[in-house]
Amino acid sequence: GFHMDGFEQRKASIEQPTTSETDMYEQPFVIGVAGGAASGKTAVCDMIIQQLHDQRVVLVNQDSFYNNFSEEELTRVQDYNFDHPDAFDTEQLLRVMDKLKHGEAVDIPKYDFKTYKSDVLRRVNPSDVIILEGILVFHDQRVRELMNMKIFVDTDADVRLARRIRRDTNEKGRDIGAVLDQYSKFVKPAFDDFILPTKKYADIIIPRGGDNHVAIDLIVQHIRTKLGQHDLCKIYPNLYVIQSTFQI
Ligand code: CTP
Repeated sequence: GFHMDGFEQRKASIEQPTTSETDMYEQPFVIGVAGGAASGKTAVCDMIIQQLHDQRVVLVNQDSFYNNFSEEELTRVQDYNFDHPDAFDTEQLLRVMDKLKHGEAVDIPKYDFKTYKSDVLRRVNPSDVIILEGILVFHDQRVRELMNMKIFVDTDADVRLARRIRRDTNEKGRDIGAVLDQYSKFVKPAFDDFILPTKKYADIIIPRGGDNHVAIDLIVQHIRTKLGQHDLCKIYPNLYVIQSTFQI
């Protein structure tokens, strides 16, 4: 009768999990954090990492994949657009993410904003959670497809400019005139043309960045739920099928 049919159906789906679903749970949980320069992305990532202290979390910065310059190019950095998608070596980023996703350790360059070089390497071990942060991490479709959760940090332009002036003059030792020139020539147009249009890919948009404790709490709760399912699925590979079948 009609009861048996339902049971048979459920049994069939329990016995035949699709490979794509199985693969999804064996790989680390990847979070993308995008948003304008000086929007507070780093603060959001730090708070997520702090609250997930009992998990293995690694942070990968898009800055690490800035193209390197020749000595000759270094003399003309003021004409270079660091906010354009072409400023990054996305192929290298994809190679690194692919290794981490498959459980391999990688060496990632540390970018130095003063020398415009990335000579120093940092060893990053595979982890349960990978956070990929940067102004344009939602720009390339292949990078977006690596992400299980996409967060856009949405901070007003005046706040971003004020922070940028403070940061670039204090930490990067730059001249305020040069900071303002760079902002109107490259930073603002690139935000409008390349960064803001990627907001539509976000699962979550956080207003005010790192100041938004409620948003961070909700995000961390969601990640914990996902990681919990992940752990259970390692022990009982078919459990997620049982759960989803009974919900229907
Ligand atoms: N940039 C620069 N000089 C370089 C390389 C990059 O001024 N040699 C600037 C780019 O113009 C870009 C910014 O660095 O606007 C990107 O970094 P940003 O997103 O500000 O750094 P985070 O600290 O990650 O930002 P947040 O405040 O959101 O944490």
